[in-house]
Amino acid sequence: MSAITCMCSASAQIGNHFGNAEMDRFISGLMNRMTLQEKLGQLNLPSGGDLVTGPVQCSPLAESIRLQKIGGFFNVLGVEKIRELQRVAVEETELKIPLVVGMDVIHGYKTVFPIPLAMSCSWDPEVVERAAEIAAAEASADGICWTFSPMVDIARDARWGRIAEGNGEDPYLGAVLAEAYVRGYQGDDLRNSERHIMTCVKHFAFYGASESGRDYNIADMSRIRMYNEYMAPYRAAVRAGAGAVMSSFNTVDGVPATANRWLLTDLLRDEMGFEGLLVTDYNSIGEMDTHGVAPLKEASVRALNAGTDMDMVSGGFLNTLEESLREGKVTEARIDEACRRVLEMKYRLGLFDDPYKYCRPERARKELFTEEHRAEARRIATETFVLLKNDDGMLPLKRQGRIALIGPLGDARNNMCGMWCSTCDPERHGTLLEGLRAAVGNQAEVVYAKGSNIYYDEQLERGAVGTRPLQRGDNRQLLEEALQVAAESDVIVAAVGESSEMSGESASRTDIRIPDAQRDLLKALQATGKPIVLLLFTGRPLDLTWESANIPAILNVWFAGSETGDAVADVLFGRVVPSGKLTTTFPRSVGQLPLYYSQVRTGRPDGNPDAFDRFQSNYIDCRNDGLYPFGYGLSYTTFEYGEMTLSAETMPEGGTLEVRVPVTNTGAYDAAEIVQLYIHDRYADIARPVKELKGFQRIFLKRGESREVTFTLTSEALKYYNSQLEYGYDPGEFQVMVGPNSRDVQTKTFRAE
Ligand code: NOJ
Repeated sequence: MSAITCMCSASAQIGNHFGNAEMDRFISGLMNRMTLQEKLGQLNLPSGGDLVTGPVQCSPLAESIRLQKIGGFFNVLGVEKIRELQRVAVEETELKIPLVVGMDVIHGYKTVFPIPLAMSCSWDPEVVERAAEIAAAEASADGICWTFSPMVDIARDARWGRIAEGNGEDPYLGAVLAEAYVRGYQGDDLRNSERHIMTCVKHFAFYGASESGRDYNIADMSRIRMYNEYMAPYRAAVRAGAGAVMSSFNTVDGVPATANRWLLTDLLRDEMGFEGLLVTDYNSIGEMDTHGVAPLKEASVRALNAGTDMDMVSGGFLNTLEESLREGKVTEARIDEACRRVLEMKYRLGLFDDPYKYCRPERARKELFTEEHRAEARRIATETFVLLKNDDGMLPLKRQGRIALIGPLGDARNNMCGMWCSTCDPERHGTLLEGLRAAVGNQAEVVYAKGSNIYYDEQLERGAVGTRPLQRGDNRQLLEEALQVAAESDVIVAAVGESSEMSGESASRTDIRIPDAQRDLLKALQATGKPIVLLLFTGRPLDLTWESANIPAILNVWFAGSETGDAVADVLFGRVVPSGKLTTTFPRSVGQLPLYYSQVRTGRPDGNPDAFDRFQSNYIDCRNDGLYPFGYGLSYTTFEYGEMTLSAETMPEGGTLEVRVPVTNTGAYDAAEIVQLYIHDRYADIARPVKELKGFQRIFLKRGESREVTFTLTSEALKYYNSQLEYGYDPGEFQVMVGPNSRDVQTKTFRAE
């Protein structure tokens, strides 16, 4: 390997560079006046209890604030309440230290955007940044100054419900979008802006690799894989200046991340240059006891010594570290360092300048769920839908005749937003039925039938729908009604899939097909012979083998937020042309998981994907590839890719190579296309992925318009971490691939010097 960059020197330049002399002086002055207990108080982050985001452990906040036993809190809803708690902190305590107020603002606050996995399918950092900016503007108007977002965990196992919360399977795209989130939430002058809030990048690290897709499970992987496949989004978020990082629930190399010194100090601080605040996940210091690693007091020592600054919920730092200090197990210097980080965060948020900066009830009255924000959410949602199938140009639908909207998600007001939207008010959201009716006006009729429950089994359904239950009906009667409505209609739109809470935290599944009752409904509707469109709601990639073989049109709308009804109607009737592309491979079977396009080459590649090949790396009963590949998504128009050209056959050391491809809109609609570039390293120190995304461009072409898309490939794109974890590349042969998705690419070869 040549062109090696030492990891440490490469990362020494990164970092947040928050520090400034004035802040240091201010905080030192403050800390000189603080007792040990008051410092430990700053490290304590309890949950308020208006929202439930973990096993319930609420604390009486006002009393703890008066006693200066907390540095902040989360899960309290409403600016008036938050303002009062802030008042207690700055007017009824001696030190007058303001509190940080956190919340899981994941995809919007009152105006809700599509779930993050859907957002990533826009492949549009501007859209992601804008959504985060609006979420920050609304949350900040309602008392919140800190969001536990973005989640940047790479996820490749659709069984894991939290795949919905991230940007999909690819580290390159994940890194681009991680930066966009940080920019959107934090803006460029956090201290002086009352409309931006601090981010908390999570979950550090590798939580997306939860074994078997079961939540809170261990994640075990080689350093090579960590560095090459999982690390880039965390690094990018840190480089973009993320103010905080949350450690993850899982173990890393056997040690819970919460207390993993290599992870939190050697890697995050020393190598990545992170200078912000490091907070645990919910009670994860307490959970080290259940991991069988250490009871609370010892766990607190290990978490602090590993580099943790703030303890979410467990209370271990507040209640046990004084004794551990006396016993010599922790140092005062380390406690001071953690306390300083909490105070720095407050300083950077401008809370010492004005503790009520985020507590302006007049802003909350005017700036939440505004027409402007909702219009943006509607526009953005349309960019996230992925058209998976459209035989004979069945979509867009015409606004004419009688349209049957059938399925339990067609008129489910409380189920449009998807997971993590506990701050929103679903009663203010439109349903799909309302959206479609508004779009057709009096040009067509839309009739609705629920058609089925989510699951046949009532108990299974209760678990699946969680806090957003749907009215259940008699299975047989629902189906009969639906068939009646279908018989009297010209076209069927089937709104089926997962309910909101079937993905997200604590929502793992082993069967990733559309739930049974809805699958049968779909089969019965298909058997009528009427034209049918599947409008798919889901928070994860599903096994759509039957649907893909039998339903002519499939539009995946994920969970699109508060404006779902109108946004879906916009695309269904062609006011907007779909342009989203998948950021996770859709499998053919749950048995393929984990599944992702950038798999590492084996010594026995699958030579014949159409038949089983003994002694090759394949299955007896299933192909290796997914049903819908990473990067895939159709449009109402068609795009033709001309021949790719390279500016040279060789990329000189430290030089660049231009890759050009002409793209033409050959169909009947003006539309956006996402052009993708992949590379493959032919020979390297370690086995390398069959392809890796290294560039993409979202372009807009009018009907008949052509454009030459140019990518500038630099040697940076060729680099990887070798078996010694050195970062660089091996001179030699590379392939470069360009196409509309990760499967349908054209390939050229070049040499890198
Ligand atoms: C646990 C989740 O893992 C984390 O993502 C979330 O931010 C916290 N709970 C706080 O609600």
